[in-house]
Amino acid sequence: MARRKKVYEGKAKILYEGPEPGTLVQYFKDDATAFNAEKKATIDGKGVLNNRLSEFFMNGLASVGVPTHFIRRLNMREQLIRSVEIIPLEIIVRNVAAGSLSKRLGIEEGTPLPRPIIEFCYKDDKLGDPLVAEEHIIAFGWASQQDLDDIVALALRVNDFLSGCMLAVGIKLIDFKIEVGRIWENDFPRLILADEISPDSCRLWDIETGKKLDKDVFRHDLGDLADAYTEVARRLGVLPANSAPLTRPKLIN
Ligand SMILES: Nc1ncnc2c1ncn2[C@@H]1O[C@H](COP(=O)(O)OP(=O)(O)OP(=O)(O)O)[C@@H](O)[C@H]1O
Ligand SMILES: [Mg+2]
Repeated sequence: MARRKKVYEGKAKILYEGPEPGTLVQYFKDDATAFNAEKKATIDGKGVLNNRLSEFFMNGLASVGVPTHFIRRLNMREQLIRSVEIIPLEIIVRNVAAGSLSKRLGIEEGTPLPRPIIEFCYKDDKLGDPLVAEEHIIAFGWASQQDLDDIVALALRVNDFLSGCMLAVGIKLIDFKIEVGRIWENDFPRLILADEISPDSCRLWDIETGKKLDKDVFRHDLGDLADAYTEVARRLGVLPANSAPLTRPKLIN
């Protein structure tokens, strides 16, 4: 393969320059990290699964009119995306209490929330992506009030779509995180969904058994992460029901 310029390497993905201006290639690694990268491992097949699952969700969202950065999948681990100016926020949507919300407010994991709650964290690994208020976001110029209104509307549309997708296959969408970026069209800015949507960035619980099918399996050593993600992909029809696991023997590419 021709050598390409690496634009950025993060914990889970690598960005390369794309074939045309305004595009990037997003490569999904097998690396898993948790607790702000204090816990690390390589999970065979995770990148392949997340590439496919993110493609599935982004295509589904586009089909209901949610603008996304996804252009097309290139191969097992790579997808072509539109390059955006990332808004430096992690946008978290919660339907059921879990994780940091449960810890922070003393609400038991699994408690349904009265309505979807949206939280913003400032994207800064050195600070541990701290929770911030709209006040901070606007005062420090990370996004405008108009941007925030657009982000909330977009996040709720993503929540409705993903909740429905998951409910249809017996999975409860507990919470998820998205990133949003700005693109320019004829000198007009527009916000679109960026980064990834995968079991790395969602909490997914089996409705019948409560079994966790997301990155908490890795965070809390609850079993085989790739098996959990394969289960999600199979239920959604992203992988055939009888497909061989994407793990072992190790995939190359
Ligand atoms: N369409 C896009 N254009 C430009 N950057 C993007 C786009 N989509 C995602 N990104 C950025 O690409 C990077 C993806 O890498 P990864 O998810 O591994 O990063 P990370 O380790 O989580 O770190 P961080 O998100 O803090 O940079 C992220 O920085 C993300 O914000
Ligand atoms: Mg990331």
